[in-house]
Amino acid sequence: MEKINIAIDGPAGAGKSTIARLVANELGFVYVDTGAMYRAVTWSILQLHLQPDQETDVIAVAKRLDIRLVPGQEGQQVFVDGRDVTADIRSAAVTGNVSRVSQIAEVRRILTDKQKLLAQDKGVVMDGRDIGSHVLPDAELKIFLTASVRTRAERRYKEVRDDRADVTLEQLEREIALRDRMDEERETSPLVQAADAILLDTTEMNISQVVERILELCRAKV
Ligand code: C5P
Repeated sequence: MEKINIAIDGPAGAGKSTIARLVANELGFVYVDTGAMYRAVTWSILQLHLQPDQETDVIAVAKRLDIRLVPGQEGQQVFVDGRDVTADIRSAAVTGNVSRVSQIAEVRRILTDKQKLLAQDKGVVMDGRDIGSHVLPDAELKIFLTASVRTRAERRYKEVRDDRADVTLEQLEREIALRDRMDEERETSPLVQAADAILLDTTEMNISQVVERILELCRAKV
């Protein structure tokens, strides 16, 4: 298939990364998980015992970090300054702080520049919060993926219950709703459905139905 860029945005736990990875595999495109980049910055500042509100220091860290996204057998691997942080960036501490780090306009600018570069040759499926609206406004296909908060919390629960044995579904639902609100209310490039994005509510859809729908939309575009 001719190379195009596909932007997949939506709130936490909507299944963006799973869907984006499968679509990229089907098309032979490169998958770029931009949330992993915000998580990599967050993991790095926590390692340095910094808090998200120490903005000048956080920006300095974001500027000098070498973040690499490498396609691996089990999805994308994430390296920070050569160290594999793929698992570390999914910790509860990183998840709890990432939306505050991603509110810093200068951090967004630094990561957005990297994201634009990754997509410059086309053939990229990029997932995040502001890809269709801000990072790749010219993407040929824009999807806004969502599902009810309850459904998203249930999906997350299945993913994390081995690592966070004491977590409850209600707690995850609260965490997800809080992260959505912070992402939607921030000043710089908030989570929003781009005017030309296609809304897919996956509450009643399974993964293969969503992937097939997006592939159909791709075929219609090229
Ligand atoms: O996609 P994921 O849940 O891993 O993203 C983690 C956080 O990174 C989001 O809650 C959001 O605060 C931030 N993010 C962002 N813009 C993006 C991708 C992620 O602000 N393009």
